[in-house]
Amino acid sequence: TGQSLAQPLAGLKLSPGAVHSYQDVHVTRLPSGLVIASMENYSPASKIGVFIKAGCRYETPENQGVTHLLRLASNLTTKGASAFKICRGVEAVGGSLSVSSSRENMIYTVDCLRDDIDTVMEYLINVTTAQEFRPWEVSDLTPRVKMDKAMAAQSDQIGVIEGLHGAAYKNALCNSLYCPNHMVGNIQSEDLHQFVQNNFTSARMALVGLGVDHTVLKQVGEQFLNIRSGAGSTGATSQYRGGEVRFPNTSSMVHAAVVSQSAAAGSSEALAFSVLQHLLGAGLHVKRGSCASSKLVQGVTKATADPFDVSAFNASYSDSGLFGVYTISQAVIKAALAQVKAVADGGVTAADLTRAKAQLKGHFLMSLETSEGFLEAMGTQALAEGTYCSPEEISKKIDNVSLTDVANAAKKFVSGKKTMASSGNLSKTPFVDEI
Ligand SMILES: *[C@@H]1O[C@H](CO)[C@@H](O)[C@H](O)[C@H]1NC(C)=O
Ligand SMILES: *[C@@H]1O[C@H](CO)[C@@H](O)[C@H](O)[C@H]1NC(C)=O
Ligand SMILES: *[C@@H]1O[C@H](CO)[C@@H](O)[C@H](O)[C@H]1NC(C)=O
Ligand SMILES: *[C@@H]1O[C@H](CO)[C@@H](O)[C@H](O)[C@H]1NC(C)=O
Ligand SMILES: *[C@@H]1O[C@H](CO)[C@@H](O)[C@H](O)[C@H]1NC(C)=O
Ligand SMILES: *[C@@H]1O[C@H](CO)[C@@H](O)[C@H](O)[C@H]1NC(C)=O
Ligand SMILES: *[C@@H]1O[C@H](CO)[C@@H](O)[C@H](O)[C@H]1NC(C)=O
Repeated sequence: TGQSLAQPLAGLKLSPGAVHSYQDVHVTRLPSGLVIASMENYSPASKIGVFIKAGCRYETPENQGVTHLLRLASNLTTKGASAFKICRGVEAVGGSLSVSSSRENMIYTVDCLRDDIDTVMEYLINVTTAQEFRPWEVSDLTPRVKMDKAMAAQSDQIGVIEGLHGAAYKNALCNSLYCPNHMVGNIQSEDLHQFVQNNFTSARMALVGLGVDHTVLKQVGEQFLNIRSGAGSTGATSQYRGGEVRFPNTSSMVHAAVVSQSAAAGSSEALAFSVLQHLLGAGLHVKRGSCASSKLVQGVTKATADPFDVSAFNASYSDSGLFGVYTISQAVIKAALAQVKAVADGGVTAADLTRAKAQLKGHFLMSLETSEGFLEAMGTQALAEGTYCSPEEISKKIDNVSLTDVANAAKKFVSGKKTMASSGNLSKTPFVDEI
C-alpha cells in the first residue's frame, strides 16, 4: 500500500525548488467573483483546472444523480465541437481531459504541453460552458451510470461511506456521489442544462493552473468564464441528524464506521480533528503490528485475536464534518471507541501529540508532491476561501494545536450524537444505541 503512514514522517523534506515555488502562488478574484489561482513552475507540462461549487450536495430531490451524469458527460458534444472532435482534438496534442467530482465540487482538468495551452484551454472552456447535452447522448450514458454503480457496489468501503452520509445528514451532504437507483435512466438533457445554468456561475468557480502564467489565465477567465455572472445562491446548509444504516450480507469481514459531527473545513477546530486523526491512526489499511504509535491499533490488538483493520475517519466539508472510527473486522468497534474516549479523558502525552503533528504535516506535504495533489489543494482553497495558504503557514497552524484542543475534539466525538454505517455479517455488530 505504498508508504505507510505508520512511519514517522518528521524527516520528510521537500526539495528546495519546490519549497521556493509555493511562494509563487498567485490568487486574484475578478469582479465577476471568479477566482484565478496559479503557480508558474516553468515546467514544460501544464495542468489547468476549472473548479466549480457544483458537487452532489447541490442536487435537489428532483435531480438527484445529475452530478454523476455530468461527471460522465464531459466529452459530449458542445456548441463548438462534436464529442468526437473534442476527444481527438485533445488527444492530437498528447493532452488529456478529465472530470471528477466530490460532494462539494466538480473539477474539470486538462493536461498538456505548455505550447498547446491555448488549444487545450479552449476545449476546457467549451466543455464547461457550452454544453449541448443532446438527448440521445444523455440517454447513451445510462449503461455507463449502471456500470459505475456496479463497480462501486463491489466496494464495502464506498457502500459504508455513502450510507454514512445518507444517515448523518437530512439534506445536502446526504446526497450520494452515485445516481440513486430510482433516477437511473430518468435524468434528462433538460435536468443537466438546468443544473449547469443554476450552479455553474462565475462566483462559484475557480480557474486554476500549474505551469502557466497568471496573466494569461486571468485573461482567459475574464474573457471566457464570465458568461453566467451573479453570485448564485449559496445552497442549503447541511443539517446533521445522526442515525444508522446497516447493509447485512454474508461477508465475514464487517465494515463499520461510527462518527459524530466534527467541524467545518478551514476552522482551527477542524485542524484539531486532523491531529486527533493522526494520533489515533490515520488512513485505512493500518494493519496489525504495522503502526505501533496508533492508539486505535494498540487498543484493538488487546481486544481481539482476529485479523482487523482500524483507522480514524475524518471528512470535512464547507459547513460540517464527520469524525470517528472505521473498522474492518468482527466486532472491534467498541474497543476502537474506547481509545477515543481515553484521549478525551486526557490520556495523551506531549510526545504523542508531537508525533501526530509531524505525521499530519508529512501527510499534507506528501499530498502536494504530485501535480494532481497540488492543483487540487490550490483549487479547493481558492474556491472555498479565495486565498491560498502556503504549507509553511499551515504547518504553523498545526503547531498551534494544543493537547487541550485535541482532547476537546475527542470529547466532542464521544459526547456527540452518533451516526453508524455497517456492512457484512452483522450478527455480532452492535447497533448505534448499544455502543
Ligand atoms: C469552442 O466554442 C466556440 C463557440 O461555440 C467555437 O467557435 C470553437 O470552435 C470551439 N472550440 C473548440 C476547440 O471546440
Ligand atoms: C467519452 O469518454 C468515455 C470514457 O473515457 C468513452 O468511453 C466514450 O466513448 C467517450 N465518448 C465519446 C462520445 O467520445
Ligand atoms: C456485502 O456488501 C458489500 C457492499 O455493501 C459488498 O461489497 C460485498 O461484496 C458483499 N459481500 C457479500 C459476500 O455479498
Ligand atoms: C443548482 O441547480 C439546481 C437545479 O437547477 C437548483 O435547484 C439549485 O438551487 C442550484 N443550487 C444553487 C446553490 O444555486
Ligand atoms: C453470521 O455469522 C454467524 C457466526 O458468527 C453465523 O452463525 C451465521 O450463519 C452468519 N450469517 C450469515 C448470514 O452468513
Ligand atoms: C481531515 O480534516 C482536515 C481538516 O483540517 C482536512 O484537511 C483533511 O482533508 C481531512 N481528511 C479527510 C480524509 O477528509
Ligand atoms: C494560535 O492559537 C491561539 C489561541 O489558541 C490563537 O489566538 C492564535 O491566533 C493562533 N495562531 C495561529 C498562527 O494560528
